[in-house]
Amino acid sequence: MTTYGWIGLGNMGGPMTANLVAAGHTVRGFDLDAGAAAEAAARGVDIVGSIAETVAGADVVFTMLPKGEHVRAVYGGEDGIWATADTRALLVDSSTVDIETSQHCHDTSAARGFRFVDAPVSGGVSGAETATLAFMVGGSPEASEEAVGHIEPMAGRTIVAGGETTGIAAKICNNMMLFINLMAASEGSQLADRLGLDPQVFWEIASVSSGHSWAQQTWYPMPGIVDSAASNRNYDATFRADLARKDVTLALDAGVLTGVSLEAARLAQRQFDRLIDEGLADKDCSLIVKYASPDGGAPGWTGAGSASAERTLSAAEMKEVR
Ligand SMILES: NC(=O)c1ccc[n+]([C@@H]2O[C@H](COP(=O)([O-])OP(=O)(O)OC[C@H]3O[C@@H](n4cnc5c(N)ncnc54)[C@H](O)[C@@H]3O)[C@@H](O)[C@H]2O)c1
Repeated sequence: MTTYGWIGLGNMGGPMTANLVAAGHTVRGFDLDAGAAAEAAARGVDIVGSIAETVAGADVVFTMLPKGEHVRAVYGGEDGIWATADTRALLVDSSTVDIETSQHCHDTSAARGFRFVDAPVSGGVSGAETATLAFMVGGSPEASEEAVGHIEPMAGRTIVAGGETTGIAAKICNNMMLFINLMAASEGSQLADRLGLDPQVFWEIASVSSGHSWAQQTWYPMPGIVDSAASNRNYDATFRADLARKDVTLALDAGVLTGVSLEAARLAQRQFDRLIDEGLADKDCSLIVKYASPDGGAPGWTGAGSASAERTLSAAEMKEVR
């Protein structure tokens, strides 16, 4: 059995560590947020009070943090991972960060005698819960192979993308495609609705037609169609709008560096900016459906600009109505 040290027990880190515990491993976890820590404790994670305690005796240390700045702080702080962990531990960052931060983690880890891999994930909270995440791994062949074994209890597929930062490069491209597809699912769902189509029937048609996508399958922004969609729960985040904006901006920055034109990604960024400007940064990114709706509301949304009471029915109620 493996001893995991885990920093960042939020929407993703919570269910990921629960799967490690379920597979019989020991997980020591740390999060600044008491609520996140308490939820992880309820699912079998040993909660400790510092990074040093998290990494003590760990075979492998995972970070699952919001942004590059958090990863740099947790690794490089005075009492951070590099200062307190044993070089015996393999270091794995599964956060979605910029390529520069990931390269910094590779370089500094190597300079301090650690093995490090970037191993971001795709599959959302639902994939984290069901241990079906796709992991994309970047690093030396030896460290990557070692990481694959530790990742296995949380993953549906693990693909070694190549050398340092290739996992994060793949993740940035993938998520740009996801958020463009989310715009398509948002606009398609609203147009179908206004054209009088039954939402369930249209979703089934799109599912077997060329409008099909992961966003359409998993985050469809109409209540009562897909259980994993935030539209069933008043857009409580499975993927926060500010994190979606971060990811699409990472792609746009990479586009500037490489000279690739990313007009659709720019549109997605603008939609997330609008949510953030409205004070909705911590709501689910699929709330961009508001901007497709003719009345500025969103199906299943009770917040400002919500259209009408019948749009707030629960998933079960919606099914009954039909
Ligand atoms: N939510 C998704 O669907 C999804 C899917 C794939 C990848 N990701 C990526 O995974 C990462 C985590 O996403 P999430 O949705 O779990 O975010 P989240 O905000 O729900 O969780 C992050 C956690 O990190 C904690 N944290 C922040 N700074 C810390 C510090 N210094 N020390 C200890 N804990 C700290 C926060 O308190 C929070 O609980 C992000 O990079 C995100 O882009 C998210």
